[in-house]
Amino acid sequence: MTKLSLAEKCGTCHEYQYKLHQSGIHGEQLAKGNPDVATCVDCHSPTQNPHSVIRVLEYNAPAYKKNIAQTCASCHDNEELMADYGIVEKVYESYMRSFHEKAIQLGTYEATQLDKATCTNCHGVHDIKSAKDPGSPVVGVANLASTCEQCHPGAGVEFAKSFLGHKEASPQNVAAAHNTKRFFTILLVTVAAFAVMVVAMAIVRFSINRWREYKDGCNNKDFRPDKSSGRASKLGNILGYAGDGRLRLHTDVPGILYQVSARLDSPIFSHSSW
Ligand code: HEC
Ligand code: HEC
Ligand code: HEC
Ligand code: HEC
Ligand code: HEC
Repeated sequence: MTKLSLAEKCGTCHEYQYKLHQSGIHGEQLAKGNPDVATCVDCHSPTQNPHSVIRVLEYNAPAYKKNIAQTCASCHDNEELMADYGIVEKVYESYMRSFHEKAIQLGTYEATQLDKATCTNCHGVHDIKSAKDPGSPVVGVANLASTCEQCHPGAGVEFAKSFLGHKEASPQNVAAAHNTKRFFTILLVTVAAFAVMVVAMAIVRFSINRWREYKDGCNNKDFRPDKSSGRASKLGNILGYAGDGRLRLHTDVPGILYQVSARLDSPIFSHSSW
């Protein structure tokens, strides 16, 4: 059987769906002998086999709402196939990025997943029209607005106008959205780069200071362990003071060159106890 004769067979009982299908782009093309378009089993059988057609409300049915985008994607996410028909928008990708699809995925209960829009809520089910057909529910702001209004009461033309469809915002297409996105991207990168620079500069300055103080301590002939305190620890710390009036604590734990120093004349080191 061909895809067309298969549809005709299903149509002997499902007359209503068959008529609608014939009036849409898939059915029209099928009638012209184009085997690339969707016939009944492409959307109603998980294996495209007429013997495994399952009910629409079966959880795994290709026509069950949460699976519809994947069902359409089997053809509409095929770039080569779509290029043959001059369909350039990445419809599946852009839909998967959209608020509606994210909300379907994040919905906790089926009831809250399934009230969101998928492909067929905007394009229709059996009578899907070409995006060049003025009768399509997504063509022209007036049609588009009434499509949105099915679920967004009182949405109106302005609401529909702001919708990008499957297009990316660009300087030609909804420039305001494009420029806002660009502005925030540049802002984010600049702020992040600045933060990294400030931290890097602080680390460099800190290391230089530490190194200098260490060198000063070691080179200073007056530096000597403070025998009176007797605080040399197990780690080999040497408490001492250098001629510059700074009290220093050196560790010579291998690999760690570190010293803490404080001015002797600072209030916490009061004279005679040392
Ligand atoms: C592009 C995909 C697609 C094609 C092609 C398709 N259907 Fe459907 N069909 C669906 C979806 C999705 C539903 C569920 C509709 C809903 O949720 O309201 C459905 C529903 C149905 C139903 C249940 C009753 C109803 O109308 O909701 C029948 C019966 C049916 N289709 C038969 C057919 C027949 C026969 C053909 C071929 C002539 C066909 N379908 C082609 C997607 C498709
Ligand atoms: C001999 C008549 C007949 C033919 C041919 C036929 N169907 Fe059906 N189909 C029915 C009937 C009757 C039901 C309703 C069964 C029920 O509700 O228990 C049904 C149910 C369905 C359903 C489930 C609808 C729902 O509400 O979930 C789908 C989908 C479907 N058919 C698609 C097809 C497809 C696709 C073909 C062609 C491959 C086809 N049918 C061929 C008679 C037919
Ligand atoms: C919220 C509504 C909405 C949903 C959901 C939606 N579309 Fe669309 N679609 C549109 C609009 C509006 C257009 C026409 C403007 C455009 O091309 O961006 C369109 C255009 C198209 C086109 C023609 C593109 C071209 O380059 O000519 C295809 C194919 C299509 N959609 C398929 C899909 C598929 C497949 C899905 C689900 C994965 C889907 N759409 C989901 C609104 C929607
Ligand atoms: C078996 C493959 C197949 C499946 C499944 C399929 N389509 Fe299509 N569809 C096509 C092909 C091929 C065309 C191009 C027909 C043409 O332009 O002549 C097309 C055309 C379209 C168009 C018109 C594009 C334009 O040029 O404006 C829309 C909209 C569309 N499909 C939506 C859907 C949606 C929504 C679904 C899922 C419910 C779906 N299709 C499932 C193959 C498929
Ligand atoms: C099948 C029903 C349905 C259709 C059709 C539909 N939407 Fe939605 N949309 C929803 C639901 C449900 C939400 C989630 C509302 C919420 O949770 O706040 C939503 C949310 C949105 C949001 C997110 C912001 C908000 O208002 O919550 C935007 C934007 C949106 N839709 C635009 C559109 C546009 C534009 C159209 C027409 C092209 C459209 N929708 C068609 C059901 C739909």
